[in-house]
Amino acid sequence: MERKIMARFKYPMAASTFFLIICFIISISYAGEKGKLYVVGMGPAGPDLTAPRALAVTEEADVILCSPGMPKKFEKFGKHIDPDKVAFNPWEGIHGEKAGKLKKTNYKEWIQRVEKQRKKVQAFVTQQIELGRTVAMLDGGDPCVYGPSLYWLLKGFDERCLEVIPGMSAFNAASAALKRPMTGDKTRFVMLTSPRSLFGESHEKGDSILKDISRYDVTMVFYMSLSSMDRLVEKFRKYYPPDLPMAIVYYAGYAEKEKVLRSRLGTILDDLKKVDEKWLGLLIAGESVL
Ligand SMILES: C[S@@+](CC[C@H](N)C(=O)[O-])C[C@H]1O[C@@H](n2cnc3c(N)ncnc32)[C@H](O)[C@@H]1O
Repeated sequence: MERKIMARFKYPMAASTFFLIICFIISISYAGEKGKLYVVGMGPAGPDLTAPRALAVTEEADVILCSPGMPKKFEKFGKHIDPDKVAFNPWEGIHGEKAGKLKKTNYKEWIQRVEKQRKKVQAFVTQQIELGRTVAMLDGGDPCVYGPSLYWLLKGFDERCLEVIPGMSAFNAASAALKRPMTGDKTRFVMLTSPRSLFGESHEKGDSILKDISRYDVTMVFYMSLSSMDRLVEKFRKYYPPDLPMAIVYYAGYAEKEKVLRSRLGTILDDLKKVDEKWLGLLIAGESVL
């Protein structure tokens, strides 16, 4: 090839320089063909509530990493998630019933497992990226709202190789189910939180923050709260009247399973006995749910 190019030039020196430039350009363009990690927000329920960009990225990805819960949703996501592309479960030993118990009884051991998985996942993803592959890491809802991938497994990951595809959060689907504006006339702000964020893993941070918040009209949204409703209600009772409106939206966005439970602070614990679900529900409290 070099000879052919050189033959077209009268001056061999110019031809060699030209050839070297071409080689340099080609090598740069190949070096630039690196892969990428996408953290994808899959929405609260199924593909009809997932952004088209998220579905396209998932379909086109070379490799998929997702939680064990996702395969159950494969049926719903059909062609969008190819189970053969799923490399492994990045949440092994970290999520699930057993891991949840360990987190409560031996946090130190649990966090060591997280560290181990974090290293494994990041090493795997880095290798795939270097091979020029795209990896899609799937999160329920929106990855930036209590999405576990960014928070637990991707801390410290080189963000130049990372793109986050936003998703509809459970909050959006739950507000739609309530058919109310969450930012009404009087509402000063909307607070997205969880019992753990507000009060600490074992509620060790105390509840004086709730006293401060109770001075304002706020729409309070609690993720991951169903399993600790007793303690949450106990704290609310110290600072709010029994008629504080509360609602729980179960399976928000699921066409057949969505359920809205409207109640008040004084009655919510009795009402909760009617439903046997401790995970997939969002608590929203404040005047806006009325
Ligand atoms: C680890 S957080 C994930 C939140 C997710 N990233 C989001 O933006 O919705 C899990 C919690 O989100 C809430 N959640 C997720 N999907 C839900 C749904 N479809 N309906 C009601 N709550 C949901 C529940 O409170 C659940 O315990």
